[in-house]
Amino acid sequence: MTELAYCAVCGIQLVAMPVVRKIADRQTTFCSDICADRFQQEPVRYAGEPVLRVRGLHKSFGSGEAETPVLRGIDLTVWEGEFVSIVGASGSGKSTLLNMIGMLDRPTRGDIYIEGKHSAEFSDEERAGIRAQTFGFVFQQYNLIPWLSVIENAMLPALFSGRGKARESALRQRLVDVGLKHRIGHLPSHLSGGEQQRAALVRAIANDPDIILGDEPTGNLDSETGAKVLEVLKHLHSIERKTLIIVTHDATIAGLADRTIVLKDGRVLEHQAREPGAYTH
Ligand SMILES: Nc1ncnc2c1ncn2[C@@H]1O[C@H](COP(=O)(O)OP(=O)(O)OP(=O)(O)O)[C@@H](O)[C@H]1O
Ligand SMILES: [Mg+2]
Repeated sequence: MTELAYCAVCGIQLVAMPVVRKIADRQTTFCSDICADRFQQEPVRYAGEPVLRVRGLHKSFGSGEAETPVLRGIDLTVWEGEFVSIVGASGSGKSTLLNMIGMLDRPTRGDIYIEGKHSAEFSDEERAGIRAQTFGFVFQQYNLIPWLSVIENAMLPALFSGRGKARESALRQRLVDVGLKHRIGHLPSHLSGGEQQRAALVRAIANDPDIILGDEPTGNLDSETGAKVLEVLKHLHSIERKTLIIVTHDATIAGLADRTIVLKDGRVLEHQAREPGAYTH
């Protein structure tokens, strides 16, 4: 059996004619000239360990006759500081994939490596630690706790990890940045959907995570509040150098990403990479 080849930058499986370039005396394969150019511009970066590597990921729900395959072989690599968007029709598996990446659920088959370590090698305690510290989640449903105020919700992950005091002033400022100054002491039920989404975004960065996972972070927002959330995401990416993996229907967000993964029926239908340097922050 021949060994499967993957693009050295974006990690997708190479089925058609790969681009082959000789880099440091080694034949290296890519899905496109864009990925090859990226590698050649920053060979040290791409020769190292990516923050996330997903290989042959499958996820089914149910068992026996009722078993429904949802993810059917996803390959994907994400490098530190990248902004990757995931798009696709409703039901294509976007949220399911994000939940696997963020270790909220376990794959049926396939591999996920976080900073080089296989997800199955993490103890339950380590998984909890990664969920709390490495990843920041913005869920499709905001999941705010109804009996806590906006600032209490935003600070909750930091309180759990013992960093509440250290993070409070930064998080208050974030709430102001996203236009929630007048809502800091309010309960979620007093907030509009857009305000709740922005509070959830601030909560996602409570522990200053390296990787932000967003599931439709502007999904229910009007264009003005959507623009505020977008500004925060752009700041996190370009100024704070966070890694962003964002599921979205919003063409503006997808257009800002370094790369876009298009899912269809649980598979990567298409992978769109931007020319290196095409995006000026
Ligand atoms: N826990 C579950 N049990 C059974 N089926 C599930 C479960 N979670 C998701 N599914 C199914 O998997 C498919 C993909 O769901 P998923 O939520 O990943 O889609 P999505 O791409 O995020 O869609 P949307 O854009 O509507 O949010 C759907 O058909 C859904 O019904
Ligand atoms: Mg979804």
